[in-house]
Amino acid sequence: MLFLTEDLLVNKGTNRVCYKHPKESSKCLKIDLKQNKETKRELKYYKRLEKKNIPFTMLSRYYGSEETNYGKAEVFELIRDSNGKVSKEVDKYLNDSNSSFEDIENLLKCIPFFKKYIFENKIYVKDLNTVNVMYQKNENSKENRLVIIDGLAHSNYNPIFYSCDYFVLKKIEICWEKFIKSIKKKSIIKQNPQFLKYL
Ligand SMILES: Nc1ncnc2c1ncn2[C@@H]1O[C@H](COP(=O)(O)OP(=O)(O)O)[C@@H](O)[C@H]1O
Ligand SMILES: [Mg+2]
Repeated sequence: MLFLTEDLLVNKGTNRVCYKHPKESSKCLKIDLKQNKETKRELKYYKRLEKKNIPFTMLSRYYGSEETNYGKAEVFELIRDSNGKVSKEVDKYLNDSNSSFEDIENLLKCIPFFKKYIFENKIYVKDLNTVNVMYQKNENSKENRLVIIDGLAHSNYNPIFYSCDYFVLKKIEICWEKFIKSIKKKSIIKQNPQFLKYL
């Protein structure tokens, strides 16, 4: 059993709370705040993606369950920048008026690669939004990446839906449009129309 303390807290979402793994710096532990089906559905979808052998380059890896003093936790890859700090959500960068022009531009440059990754591997992110995607900043900006940490899978998990590429791609397209639209609405983007070329 792992012993967690509040100093390990990374952040709290609406359904789950995320802690740093006390023994492994590249992992985090997520614990449900209240009973809900999201985690179960997400894990079902992870299993499916693992079976399909998709690369986990832009999706945080899943490592199984662990018991903790706060209850059962699911272990995921903890997304950190190359300086060791836990990465920040895309939303935080886009909402922060102190974000540098360079940071925003480098973040936006990751978007075409992120799109290619999602569509090529047919990853359906039901809640594809700027809060559920981390921007991992690296010393070598060519290694920067966007990583999905939450929001995976359809709420009414239906294996037939996932076995039909046509339907999955249609759904992904709708989510993608919504994602891009939400980014375009951010004032930092509106104020700098030169950023639109990445979207
Ligand atoms: N893999 C991760 N790497 C770094 N931070 C994470 C990771 N997963 C979650 N977090 C942080 O914890 C918060 C809550 O986790 P999340 O999985 O989004 O829970 P919820 O399902 O409640 O939205 C996130 O918004 C993010 O700040
Ligand atoms: Mg979340």
